[in-house]
Amino acid sequence: MAVVPTTPREIEQAARVIREGGLVAFPTETVYGLGANALDASAVARIFEAKRRPSFDPLIVHVADRAMLLRVAREVPPQVEPLMEKFWPGPLTLVLPKAEAVPGIVTSGLPTVAVRMPAHPVALELIRQAGLPIAAPSANPFGYLSPTRAEHVERMLGEAVDLILDGGPTRYGVESTILLLAEKPVVLRHGAIPLEELESILGRVELRVGESVRPLVPGQLPQHYAPRTPIQVARPDEVPKELRKQSGYLAFQDVPKGFKLVKVLSPTGDLREAAAHLFEALHQLDRLGLPAIYAEPVPEEGLGRAIMDRLRRATVKD
Ligand code: TXA
Ligand code: MG
Repeated sequence: MAVVPTTPREIEQAARVIREGGLVAFPTETVYGLGANALDASAVARIFEAKRRPSFDPLIVHVADRAMLLRVAREVPPQVEPLMEKFWPGPLTLVLPKAEAVPGIVTSGLPTVAVRMPAHPVALELIRQAGLPIAAPSANPFGYLSPTRAEHVERMLGEAVDLILDGGPTRYGVESTILLLAEKPVVLRHGAIPLEELESILGRVELRVGESVRPLVPGQLPQHYAPRTPIQVARPDEVPKELRKQSGYLAFQDVPKGFKLVKVLSPTGDLREAAAHLFEALHQLDRLGLPAIYAEPVPEEGLGRAIMDRLRRATVKD
């Protein structure tokens, strides 16, 4: 494994690794992805192996243009057009009918495929140069915090990846929003595109976030995105003084008193900035091996929904 900068030469080398069936970790505007040729079942199998991910879990396929979208989706329903127009390239994943060419391992045997066109220039260039759609989950071991920097990938998955493209910290810091277009549009995972923005185009959107009779989306599993340190959502004054002294605190805006270490997500109270810092701050707190981390609730509007969703899932213990 090598961590390399995102110069044209390195991107070309990474594209070659993808074409030859290898694994490349690459930056997107949301989080780092762990990519393989989406049309090659054994290459995709390596992703599951590297992440130790249960195979019921379907992956997102990343495309660079419309022609590539049509290689992986059997059909693009007309109601999708205005969404692609507005949000692509960008952090909106669309669940569409799957084309024959996509192997079952990518979609866990589902008749649908999740597709997005990432907005990061390195991701787009990598896909273009590979000339292939790239299947890529977030580049973290299953259930653990998502990576927003190349170092996170190196630390968590280094040995299992052929090449890591280092494009610096990611812009959004939370994953894409996942939208299923059935008879009605349904959000399956809150993410970087806020619900309000989707509703401004689609009208009312149904929510099926966290419903998991059959966990179609692992982001819907009750415990996910979790640090190793036990974590709880609590306002500072809800944490007993004695516990504060030895605990870490993930604060939204202000620094509370009495904690061993505090990370502030956004001093100005900006939810977008808070989302971008969320996983990085959790990685930092988790690394200290403290007995506990507490996280302050943020307003549940706009990107605050995705933040609270990730925090709640990180706190569930089964
Ligand atoms: O921002 C992102 O979406 C990042 C970057 C790398 O693009 N990727 C990401 O992938 O978050 P992953 O694998 O960690 O999450 C993908 C989610 C999974 O929860 C998966 O179950 C869901 O997409 N998914 C994939 N195919 C699906 C399908 N056909 N129907 C419903 N959900 C699907
Ligand atoms: Mg993930």
